[in-house]
Amino acid sequence: MESNRRLWLKQISLGVAGIGLANFKSFARPTQDFFTISPDNLPIKLSSNENPYGPSPLARTAMIDNINISNRYNWQLTSELIETLAKINNVAADNILMGAGSTEILDLVARFSALQKGSLIIADPSYAYWTNTAQKLGLIKITVPLTADKKLNLDAMLKAIKPDTKLIYVCNPNNPTGTICDRNKLIKFITEATKKAMVLVDEAYLEFTDQQSLSSLVIENKNLIVVKTFSKIYGLAGARIGYAIANTKTIEQLSELQSWVNGSISVPSTAAALASLKDEKFASDTHSLNQKARQFTIERLEKLNLVCIPSYSNFIYFSLTNYKKDFFEQLKINNIIGTKIYEEQGKWTRITVGSMQEMQKFISAIE
Ligand SMILES: Cc1ncc(COP(=O)(O)O)c(C=O)c1O
Repeated sequence: MESNRRLWLKQISLGVAGIGLANFKSFARPTQDFFTISPDNLPIKLSSNENPYGPSPLARTAMIDNINISNRYNWQLTSELIETLAKINNVAADNILMGAGSTEILDLVARFSALQKGSLIIADPSYAYWTNTAQKLGLIKITVPLTADKKLNLDAMLKAIKPDTKLIYVCNPNNPTGTICDRNKLIKFITEATKKAMVLVDEAYLEFTDQQSLSSLVIENKNLIVVKTFSKIYGLAGARIGYAIANTKTIEQLSELQSWVNGSISVPSTAAALASLKDEKFASDTHSLNQKARQFTIERLEKLNLVCIPSYSNFIYFSLTNYKKDFFEQLKINNIIGTKIYEEQGKWTRITVGSMQEMQKFISAIE
């Protein structure tokens, strides 16, 4: 367990000395306890897979310090962030493209694929909001059902590729089910699928697992794009920072569709991202607190006789088939924001893993 944790830390941590952080005035950890829960009068938001503890203390300080210099564009800070991300992901700076959240990158990829016209493939259910834009731009959406145990059906996705397929989206771990692909199987899938189309691997939740990123594969494979975000483990959803990792040629092509290349992220957000990468403790605490709260919630849901899918993320997919009360009404009267039914058959819903106290309140609300 401990070696897993160390491996995980190594995967996500900076691991590079001497990265310049000239614009940060202070890295002092504020004394305030940031691991507190929402006050009683606020709703408990368990709908968007946000980090209940973030932003990290170092990121908060960096944001505040950098408000004062937000009258200026800051190319240097963006370059520092890109260099840092390149080192973490074992790629070069020109393999990285920054966006205002990974959503901007998903949009860019959708636009890039739509320019070539044809179809896109996505599992169902998966993270599909961005496909509305893709469809509006003319791409035909082909959906591939998950396996019975709610995993991506990579074989079926491979078979679904048509001569006109331009893009295949792989969410790993998958939102909303929290399942993960076996890494070797995924690499085999990518090897085959990228002979025919672009594969986009969305690693929004990968830092909640012990699995290594596929980022370094992009060096050899111009048909692979890996997308990452600061919105989840780093707790910066509202700061809007994400990025693509891809072959230099692919980054160049995507850049042509971004009017200001790497220019969408504000100075405080860029500073926050850099500081977050330094705050190893925060990411590691989030990782272990999430594991504990997730395990507690799954155990309690199972005690209520509700079937849960094993989760590798900060959310849980479970079935309301055996639930006797009105689940959504119970949430409403207890001031808790949940999601929806994702699959009518089996009445599958998703709940974000908040802090332990939030999850205790969630369980009391539905018991
Ligand atoms: C799988 C996945 N990808 C991308 C996003 C978008 O994240 P953001 O635009 O905040 O980086 C989300 C948000 O919940 C997500 O679940």
